[in-house]
Amino acid sequence: MVQLLNWNVSSMVWNDAPEPWQIGFQDSASPIMEGIQELHDQIFFYLIVVLVLVSWMLGSILYKFHSSSENNRIRYKYLNHGTLIELIWTLTPALILVAIAFPSFKLLYLMDEVIDPAMTIKVNGHQWYWDYQYSDYVDDQHEDSIAFDSYMVPTEELEPGQLRLLEVDNRVVVPVDTHIRFIVSSADVIHSFAVPSLGLKIDAVPGRLNQTSFIAQREGVYYGQCSELCGVWHGFMPIVVEAVSRTVRYFHSFFSS
Ligand SMILES: *[C@@H]1O[C@H](CO)[C@@H](O)[C@H](O)[C@H]1NC(C)=O
Repeated sequence: MVQLLNWNVSSMVWNDAPEPWQIGFQDSASPIMEGIQELHDQIFFYLIVVLVLVSWMLGSILYKFHSSSENNRIRYKYLNHGTLIELIWTLTPALILVAIAFPSFKLLYLMDEVIDPAMTIKVNGHQWYWDYQYSDYVDDQHEDSIAFDSYMVPTEELEPGQLRLLEVDNRVVVPVDTHIRFIVSSADVIHSFAVPSLGLKIDAVPGRLNQTSFIAQREGVYYGQCSELCGVWHGFMPIVVEAVSRTVRYFHSFFSS
């Protein structure tokens, strides 16, 4: 859910983070997350239809044909076979599965494809923090690509408005409305780079590269967490992606600092 929490004297930012007792998804901020929510709702529709149908059939059969009912003795000899009904209750579930499979595969391939990203960021998982490299940009002082580590802010050091176990010292800053690619790997064990409202979740496997991409459709701060058990401090290596305006002033101030 979007909540107004991060408040500075100079700016106010929308945060996308989990809420206590939240049941549904976080608000989506990328086209892929939009697709994931739509597929979820679509499948949920079938789920409700099946649930109602099966419960109704079960209930009415128990009610009408329990052992002491009249119907039980009369109807039972006609109920051994019914080719038509058998055909229907075999084919209907199969058709429902097909109806689910098509949009599901469509989304799966859409998520897998990374076409022509405008910017690439390398993400490396560590026990227990992330490091990021902006390979498209060179740091003038060090004549190397811009890179930094990103650690969780410990509870004692939180400032008012910051989120416990979710805030980091260095955020991943990206321009809004831009196709960004993350290339994800790990330095030690398997981690998982996940940001719910951007629809990101990808394994960080040592010795291998995985890629994923997203477009942030609105400015804001998006919180995520490592999503693969990676050791004792698995719960303390959050991810914060900050989408900022493409206006030169905002985005480039990040790289010149
Ligand atoms: C990432 O890489 C690993 C290992 O190479 C693979 O098992 C996994 O399916 C890949 N993709 C995602 C989305 O995690």
